[in-house]
Amino acid sequence: MIMKKAILSLGFIFLSFIMFSQQKSLDQKVDSVMNLMTLEEKIGQMNQYNDDWTATGPATVDNDKATQIRNGQVGSLLNCMGTERTRSWQKIALESRMKIPLIFGQDVIHGYKTTFPIPLAESCSWDLDAMELSARIAATEASASGIQWTFAPMVDIARDPRWGRVMEGAGEDPYLGSLIAAARVRGFQGNKPEDINSVIACAKHYAAYGAAIGGRDYNSVDMSDRLLWEVYLPPFKAAADAGVATFMTSFNDLNGVPATENKYLLSDILKGKWGFKGFVVSDWGAIGELINHGTAKNSYEAAESAIKAGCDMDMESRCYKNNLAQLVKDKKVSIALIDDAVKRILRVKFELGLFDDPYRYCNQIRENQELNNPEHPKAARQIAEKSIVLLKNENHLLPLSKNIKTIAFIGPLVKSLKQNKGFWDVEVPGVDSSFIVSQWQGLKKKVGSGTTLLYARGCNIEGDNKEGFPEAIDIAKQADVVILSIGESRDMTGEARSRSNINIPGVQEDLLKALLATGKPVVVLINAGRPLVFNYTADHATAILYTWWLGSEAGDAIADVLFGDYNPSAKLTITFPGSVGQIPIYYSHFNTGRPATSDTNRYYKSAYTDLSIYPKYEFGYGLSYTNFNYSDLKLSKKEMKGNDQIEASVTITNTGEYDGDEIVQLYLRDRFGSICRPVEELKDFKKIQLKKGESKTIKFIINKEKLSFYNQKLQWAAEPGEFDLMIGASSKDIRLKDSFELIN
Ligand code: GLC
Repeated sequence: MIMKKAILSLGFIFLSFIMFSQQKSLDQKVDSVMNLMTLEEKIGQMNQYNDDWTATGPATVDNDKATQIRNGQVGSLLNCMGTERTRSWQKIALESRMKIPLIFGQDVIHGYKTTFPIPLAESCSWDLDAMELSARIAATEASASGIQWTFAPMVDIARDPRWGRVMEGAGEDPYLGSLIAAARVRGFQGNKPEDINSVIACAKHYAAYGAAIGGRDYNSVDMSDRLLWEVYLPPFKAAADAGVATFMTSFNDLNGVPATENKYLLSDILKGKWGFKGFVVSDWGAIGELINHGTAKNSYEAAESAIKAGCDMDMESRCYKNNLAQLVKDKKVSIALIDDAVKRILRVKFELGLFDDPYRYCNQIRENQELNNPEHPKAARQIAEKSIVLLKNENHLLPLSKNIKTIAFIGPLVKSLKQNKGFWDVEVPGVDSSFIVSQWQGLKKKVGSGTTLLYARGCNIEGDNKEGFPEAIDIAKQADVVILSIGESRDMTGEARSRSNINIPGVQEDLLKALLATGKPVVVLINAGRPLVFNYTADHATAILYTWWLGSEAGDAIADVLFGDYNPSAKLTITFPGSVGQIPIYYSHFNTGRPATSDTNRYYKSAYTDLSIYPKYEFGYGLSYTNFNYSDLKLSKKEMKGNDQIEASVTITNTGEYDGDEIVQLYLRDRFGSICRPVEELKDFKKIQLKKGESKTIKFIINKEKLSFYNQKLQWAAEPGEFDLMIGASSKDIRLKDSFELIN
């Protein structure tokens, strides 16, 4: 035994020496470059420009970019894609005195060429492995196209669907959002940055951008530190713990201090308490926007505030390039701050292998192979199927029979290609849209020769033109079933797309009404990037699939679900309001002193007198073609002492006619606390596959960590007392309950 311990400890010492020497050699490499650099060259590394292609913000056009790069005044380019173009810029960078390679960044948010469902849609799969694979494939294609850095995952918790950027994240819940953040970082970064199929990831937008007042993009955010720590920071911490290489500051001010100059966020928490060793990039022009915020009189002051707060790289504002040298000369900014920022940036470039081979991501043969890898669309189709939420299925209309005679496929989104890609898709140079599978194509491929497919556009997405109605009604009358594909256009939800009215636009619901008047059953596909309000559709359609924007394999995935080749399993990760007037509305709310518990008793209750207290669809909601029975909830003990754990087991049975997946959710309620505690909080979930008739018993572990929260003093702690334990098919559809007590 003693010998064994000795060998183990020797092994540990050896391993630590290896790791230390590797890290030491990396730091030595960085220092060896730093020692040769001038101040101007160091500042150049902190400067990021947009390439001359698509701008994702208000662009400044330099016509001497090549000269600046050749002079070592630029460290990174964004929105530059393809092995050819990135190689051409890299070649110029290597003509500089220090020959420091550029790092190329891109918003590879949900796929590069192969386009996956928008992140909010993917999150409804609750399938962490699938989301990790999605990020992995995106990284593989992007890295094959000259890109080393994606500005993703966006991990902003969002509870206001008026905010267009809800489409980029993982919904409203910090527990689920944290797991998804880590999965996406792992997918993008792989096991190590130097892995050729990896890109470095970027946790954004730090922080609390999703809480913009009124859901109005770029608006102020004001919240208690307790809420910030309890709800908005956890996914960022999860990304940092997963080893994310970079962070991006958010546009918003937080409690009066813009995030880009927020020392509390960037230095005290991120680089201090969390020990973050990567680098922080500002969002587009955000340093310069400090002048608009009114916390800097000019770009000189803006640069000073941002660098002192801990922002290492300046995306597109040019404040660093134009002012940092003077700030050092004026002794306003210490060279140590510049050195720290540059070391962080150079360390990442070394880890990516860019110094060893600046052209390693510029291999055209690999680019062609990966962008045409047949495995990628297959993965995209699978996660797209898992992202489709079945909201309604009256009379078990779905799945459709493959022997159905006539289908009328109607709507402005049926034959579109690019609409399926949603916002934040990538326009890959030299690649057209022909690889995208439209919803029409998907259905045509799926149905047999015995099925007649009829088509009519019916109307546009926006506008009040109803001239197409008669043709649509006519083919509906000929059909056994109508499929109506309606929703938003892909640029209606995304950055700078806040909307005060989140109804289905135009006359699309009028078209539904006209089609229902024919007496035919209607399946509605809703294509959107956010929760929309569609009460007429919800109350009258026969069946509803929320198909989001599913990406380049949308058509096949939708057809698979319509005909039951995939049994829908997705569940909502964001609350769907019944009216925009209900917002903000989310499931893990406090009880208040006058809780409204029904729509019939709202007098002197925390409720609107003119609106239901319930959302249209709650967090965790989603139907299946089969049914699941929950039974035999058992707790291993009813009291938890110290660091005990409680095991909760429950049996799930597929009692329906189809094999299917069920997302079993575990919620806890801390009945009494030193501060108010939410009426329920998601603390675990299991996604299980069950063949029809099959039962499985699953186990959840409850430990003190799951009972802990930030108290008034911002201490993370669990408090003794009673806890309700709820097992649900959604946050509202609680199937089984029990309780236990934390003794100390
Ligand atoms: C945009 C977005 C950010 C993106 C960046 C670069 O303004 O806010 O998410 O990564 O600019 O495109």
